[in-house]
Amino acid sequence: MELPPTLAQHIEQSSQQHLLRYWDELDESGRQVLVAELEHIDFALVERLAGATEVAGSVADRVARARAPQNLVTPPTDEESRNEQRRAVQAGQDLLRSGRVGAILVAGGQGTRLGFDRPKGLFPIGPLSNKTLYQLFAEQLVARGRQFGPPIPYFIMTSGATHAETVAFFEEHDFFGLLPENVYFFEQGTLPALELDSGRMLLDQKGRLSLSPDGHGGLVRALARHRLLEEMTLRGIDYLYYHQVDNPSAPHCDPAFLGWHVLRGADISTKVVRKVSPDERMGVVCDVDGAAQIIEYSDLTPEQARTTDASGQPIFWAGNTAMHVFNREFLERLTETNGELPFHIARKAVPYVDDSGQRIVPSQPNARKFEQFIFDALPLARNALVVEVERREEFNPVKNRDGADSPATARQALIDIHRRWLEAAGAVVERDVVVEISPLFALDAEEVAARLPADSRFAEDTHLEPHLGT
Ligand code: UTP
Repeated sequence: MELPPTLAQHIEQSSQQHLLRYWDELDESGRQVLVAELEHIDFALVERLAGATEVAGSVADRVARARAPQNLVTPPTDEESRNEQRRAVQAGQDLLRSGRVGAILVAGGQGTRLGFDRPKGLFPIGPLSNKTLYQLFAEQLVARGRQFGPPIPYFIMTSGATHAETVAFFEEHDFFGLLPENVYFFEQGTLPALELDSGRMLLDQKGRLSLSPDGHGGLVRALARHRLLEEMTLRGIDYLYYHQVDNPSAPHCDPAFLGWHVLRGADISTKVVRKVSPDERMGVVCDVDGAAQIIEYSDLTPEQARTTDASGQPIFWAGNTAMHVFNREFLERLTETNGELPFHIARKAVPYVDDSGQRIVPSQPNARKFEQFIFDALPLARNALVVEVERREEFNPVKNRDGADSPATARQALIDIHRRWLEAAGAVVERDVVVEISPLFALDAEEVAARLPADSRFAEDTHLEPHLGT
């Protein structure tokens, strides 16, 4: 195989000629793999990244000017705010009925902290059913579609590490009741690791580049590359509910959230919860010079995290749940070059093949890796809305193997949420009894109340599925 001429020209004009150092040693299939990887490289972007510097100081400036979020909806506390909340729910339900809503799941992460060797979406989390995260999300979406009429298309972003298993899993399980034509799997992009100082791309093997996923912010480029924004336009989808793969209690395409977004005319809306303590390792939403944005916990010193405003209220209280609503038009705007999200830089020890053909496994950082974060879209919006929700109801992510934000805490949260729904409906759940409510049975407390026979009593563990109560 010869090197395609345009690719040869790109490499010739870049400072990356070393990538072809072992070309003559590669067999035919090895050359094909390397060419395929090189053809995905945006050499102009790599040149820019090589020259990028960490903008130290700029975060400190922003922290100093930050205020608590101003364009904010808080949970209802009195009759007037409960009426407003009802109006938002109504607006969201109308939107769902109109068929203008789609959902995006970002599932390309490597889930290192959980230490599970498959895509995180395959992790079993149903307290009794052991349903996986993917199944719980898919069933919620099926149920939400049935509640309001039109099915809700699902756009699932994967990465090289998660794509094949994710697609196979949905196929094996008949898409958990979703229609295959309403599920779009698309792979996010990758970015090369660049050697410190030289800015050279690293070879992981003689014929393989060192590449890693470009972060959840890679969503914007991936949607454009796979022409999915056009597909959404053709299907009349104007609003996208966005969520992550790790939070089984996030209400899928929640009418209240969609409704607030529409009523307030936002481009992007973000759900937040109150941090449990200033030290919690959670990004916070705040306002800087009138623009909503997220400051990462690692950018706040313990003292800064405790800062209060003139009235004594904490500034950095609003933890980012990574549940968003986007206008499709806003995503389109982001794909234009001037809306490009910033690249976050991490210094890492990255194995590589050196100029003598040796594979080196360094113990110290030798390269920079680059990622984009979707929440960096917030300050680019004309109108970013922040919606506070009750944490125990909606934010119980699976991040770590043990301790906080682990499978054990997420399962317990589901058990507690379902118990509260049942008790609000007048049911009695005996002590230590676990009742798991399938999304196909009910999506919230109101549906439980509507479906559950009067005077229901649960004396033993029960998985409430549609055939049991309807
Ligand atoms: P996290 O920041 O929790 O990262 O991702 P992670 O890779 O899943 O887990 P750790 O940090 O290695 O333990 C938040 C969400 O963003 C998605 C993840 O799948 C998850 O839904 N994500 C992350 C992507 O889709 N692509 C990425 O490149 C990174």
